[in-house]
Amino acid sequence: MALTFVMVKPDGVRRGLIGEVVRRFEAKGLRIRALKMITVSPGLAQKHYEEHRDKPFYPDLVRFITSGPSVPMVLEGRDAVSVARTLMGATDPVKAAPGTIRGDLGLELTENIVHGSDSAEACEREIALYFLPEEIS
Ligand code: RTP
Ligand code: MG
Repeated sequence: MALTFVMVKPDGVRRGLIGEVVRRFEAKGLRIRALKMITVSPGLAQKHYEEHRDKPFYPDLVRFITSGPSVPMVLEGRDAVSVARTLMGATDPVKAAPGTIRGDLGLELTENIVHGSDSAEACEREIALYFLPEEIS
């Protein structure tokens, strides 16, 4: 069974959507292997979003992701990376299809509720950034 890394971002936590987001992943059949609430530090944010370091939106992205508590989690299931990305919808909530998390619950590109790993390699890297091996059950 494949793993993926997903995180409810600070806007999702502020808006009281942790339960709604977790419900959708669980209802699909993904199993929660780890879950916690943390405020992402600037150092962790820089590592997480390293691939976007040179993009114009990077400073806003780091400011936003560190702006309050987030809920990172590890999910398990068949093709978990792509299944979670499909449930999340397109990056821009304006373009995300109805029925997806971003399509149903969001409107702003920066405040798009949820993060999900986009490959098995990213998943492995992101799980290691956020969780110790003994936190995954
Ligand atoms: P994420 O990493 O957060 O799961 O989102 P994603 O894969 O769908 O999108 P990605 O390209 O990795 O971008 C990371 C986050 O940066 C913000 N963004 N802003 N202003 C812009 O042009 C712009 N482009 C991306 C989004 O909040 C996106 O989730
Ligand atoms: Mg991404």
